[in-house]
Amino acid sequence: MKLSVIILAAGQGTRMRSSLPKVLHPLGGKALLSRVIATARQLDPDSIHVVYGHAGERVREALAGESVEWVEQREQLGTGHAVEQVMPLIDDQGITLVLYGDVPLICASTLAPVVEQARQQVLSVLTAVLDDPSGYGRIIRGANGRPVDIVEQKDAGEEQLRIREINTGFLAAPTALLRGWLSKLDNDNAQGEYYLTDIIAAAVAEGVPVESVTAPCSGEIQGVNDRVQLAQLERLFQHRQAEALMRSGVTLADPARFDVRGELVAGVDSFIDANALFEGSVTLGSGVRIGPNCVIRNATLGDDVEVLANSVIDSARLGKGCRIGPFARIRPETELDDGVHIGNFVEVKKSRIAAGSKVNHLSYIGDTHMGSGVNIGAGTITCNYDGANKHLTQIGNDVFVGSDTQLVAPVTVGDAATIGAGTTVTRDVPPGQLTLSRCAQKTVEGWTRPQKKRP
Ligand code: UD1
Ligand code: MG
Repeated sequence: MKLSVIILAAGQGTRMRSSLPKVLHPLGGKALLSRVIATARQLDPDSIHVVYGHAGERVREALAGESVEWVEQREQLGTGHAVEQVMPLIDDQGITLVLYGDVPLICASTLAPVVEQARQQVLSVLTAVLDDPSGYGRIIRGANGRPVDIVEQKDAGEEQLRIREINTGFLAAPTALLRGWLSKLDNDNAQGEYYLTDIIAAAVAEGVPVESVTAPCSGEIQGVNDRVQLAQLERLFQHRQAEALMRSGVTLADPARFDVRGELVAGVDSFIDANALFEGSVTLGSGVRIGPNCVIRNATLGDDVEVLANSVIDSARLGKGCRIGPFARIRPETELDDGVHIGNFVEVKKSRIAAGSKVNHLSYIGDTHMGSGVNIGAGTITCNYDGANKHLTQIGNDVFVGSDTQLVAPVTVGDAATIGAGTTVTRDVPPGQLTLSRCAQKTVEGWTRPQKKRP
């Protein structure tokens, strides 16, 4: 049976106090609305319509890659009016599910039974029982135990306000019936809005059964109205991810200090220390150790890689058993083969380094192809930029580069060459020999240090 999804996202989001539309604020590195769209897709719908408001052009632009239908609601006249905007665009076949662009953590598994109930020609609403129901619409149940009405906080009497079962807003209904109920809505209420929730009473009046599903966890149904709620949901979301990772065999030093803004896949027996941040798509092998305060973005790390504290790895591939940091920066387009060591205060950019090579201290390696078994001494710099263009440094296998060497690219160093400390390499270095550039050392006889003048 056909499934149409409508996502309401026309609200202004004033309480965010932001120039960015509310549904574009990120949660786990992804716009709130993108998360809801992704959840909708898990239900395999035939169409997804997003209702956007007057400032919504930015939302459309930001999410232009999403294959959804965009429907403008020029004036925000209420949730019922918002859903009605989509009705001319969908046919009477099948059922319609209503989602909210600012309720990002709803799970497809929670929505599935709501959709299932609606397929039985009933109106199905997702409810929750809260300790503090204030602000929400209250579920009024009839003598048969089924919902007969939803009363908004602002329209509720004292007794109704004591009801702790609330309307989450999520509901599904046969599209043909929904169309009829929406066409009869009025705005004769405390807020002067066309309430979607009034369709419950309309269904009851027509003898259409109304059923409910109770949401398993309150976080799923929480909306984002301000940045405090956004931060709360962010933590909840991160906690979910941390738990899933731990259950898959990864040890986290502290699940409360761990963030994934994207996808993280990790092999068993990996260990992640406090304050690690993963962005984009990151894959860790098994037995990987990530030290505290590391940022790892769009990277693949082989088995047994060790990343020591305060290192940043961006868009790189690291082979098995590499050791990085502490305080190392691996920049985009870097490929390290197995067992490479990159030590403290070393920056590597757009370079390929073959197995077992070591750059252990205070170096910059950029636009470089380096062979295997190479040792780069402390303070070595590839001078890859002439002010206009970038040039390549090629280093063979088993090369030894003494400390404080500058390799002025383009330049090639042959296999097994040795370069003396302090050398400025401006021409190709032959294989197997010692190459160095060095001023003669001199000593000034009889020189004395200046003395401090006494008054
Ligand atoms: C609504 C429900 C309430 C429920 C609560 C759950 C109604 C009348 N009330 O109340 O029963 O407990 O959600 O959070 O439905 N929107 C539009 N266009 C509009 C108005 C709203 O797109 O004209 C969107 C908003 O962007 C938001 C959602 O609909 O995503 C809900 O609107 P909101 O104003 O927050 O409704 P509530 O008063 O909270
Ligand atoms: Mg609301």
